Amino acid sequence: MSSPAKAAPTAVAAPVKPLVYVAAAISALGGMLFGYDIGVISGAILFIKKQFSLSPGMEEIVVSSVLLGSLIGAAAGGVLADRLGRRRLSIVTAIIFCLGAAGAALAPDTAWLIIARVVAGVAIGVASFVSPLYISEIAPVDIRGKLVSINQVALTSGIVISYLIDYAFAPSEDWRWMFALAVIPAAAFGIGLFFIPDSPRWLAGRGHLDQAREVLKRIRSPEQMESEVKEIQSSVSQQKGGWSELFSKLLRSAMVVGIGLAIAQQITGINTVIYYAPTIFKFAGLSTASAAILASVGVGVINVVLTVVAMQLIDRVGRRPLLLISLAGMAFSLLVLGGAFLLPQFKSVLGWIAVGSLMTYVGFFAVGLGPVFWLILSEIYPLRVRGRAMSVGTAANWLSNLIVALTFLTLTKSIGKPGTFWLYAAVTVGAWFFAWFLVPETKGKTLEQIEAHWRAGKHPRAL
Ligand code: BGC
Repeated sequence: MSSPAKAAPTAVAAPVKPLVYVAAAISALGGMLFGYDIGVISGAILFIKKQFSLSPGMEEIVVSSVLLGSLIGAAAGGVLADRLGRRRLSIVTAIIFCLGAAGAALAPDTAWLIIARVVAGVAIGVASFVSPLYISEIAPVDIRGKLVSINQVALTSGIVISYLIDYAFAPSEDWRWMFALAVIPAAAFGIGLFFIPDSPRWLAGRGHLDQAREVLKRIRSPEQMESEVKEIQSSVSQQKGGWSELFSKLLRSAMVVGIGLAIAQQITGINTVIYYAPTIFKFAGLSTASAAILASVGVGVINVVLTVVAMQLIDRVGRRPLLLISLAGMAFSLLVLGGAFLLPQFKSVLGWIAVGSLMTYVGFFAVGLGPVFWLILSEIYPLRVRGRAMSVGTAANWLSNLIVALTFLTLTKSIGKPGTFWLYAAVTVGAWFFAWFLVPETKGKTLEQIEAHWRAGKHPRAL
């Protein structure tokens, strides 16, 4: 049997079957719900605080409970993704999304609300990695980057939609509707999943080769199908699966890349902007509520637009160039943002420099680090351990997210605003070097070729 490393790539440029796009779009609803559910709280909290008379401490718990749930979902979801399968686990996740949304909407008191938000968080934690995982496994190699990035486009759109819904219900202060509306995409996600196939790679990994073939028949041309089946078969025969394979020496560098990028995506500060944009703008002198809201919507829209740009480029220029440009641009914007806070004498100028550098920062994140992290995470692990390996990286991502969220305001108080943003800038420079030395270029490689690369014991950069 020929080694998959030497096998001809399956990138036969045949037309992509519409079912591939439909399946990717339905799966990406998981990403949309992820975005909606993390974004919605920013507006809702203003009215919840009033109605439940929350202390600042309680307010922080209500806001960050979703992150705790996400951490739990990410950590627990991996084994389930490998056992139940990507699609079935997504169906369970859709149900949990509905319960979380309905629970928060109906919450009679703070404790109930916190529990509902943890439940929604569990769904977010699972969806955050299962959607890219599923899409990556059904995608033809030459458009895999673009298809997986649809999930990040859906995620960023979910954030903007949640801001707009918050804005629409703000006059009536009806925070319950803000949460309740998530039931609609959650139901669409759950129902849609019944109409799309299981991941052919997961089926093959579980020994159901005939079913895998049936699925491939629906999503590939006959020639593409044969070469893909051979490649999957050959790679499955060389895997043991389970935790021992995951932590074996051969996968060490893949684990370092996944976990390292997961941490880098968060500790470079993106969610300080997503969660605290209005606060940062307020620091910078934009004090009216409507200016702050408008600026937040602007940040969200830039995030979507530049993610769409990344989606168009990712299979052409590759993951690495986007990642390196992104990190360099983010570091520069953070330096400027920090510097802006040193110039209090130019109050109004400061406001504009802050807005400008923040938007530039988000734009650079969106064109690289945002989508590239989730894409690479979905590409670099061997089939039989892919679910659990992704869940380890995803849990590292959510844990770092939680730590940054809990320390940002304290940091600005202890080392000052310039110091805080410069600290993120320094961390971003470190992340750039990490990416330069360790992140592989996965463009144009089949998932099986990437696996064979680790099995051959080669350095990530040599891919
Ligand atoms: C990150 C999230 C972030 C979002 C913003 C995602 O890739 O994982 O933490 O909130 O991008 O667009």
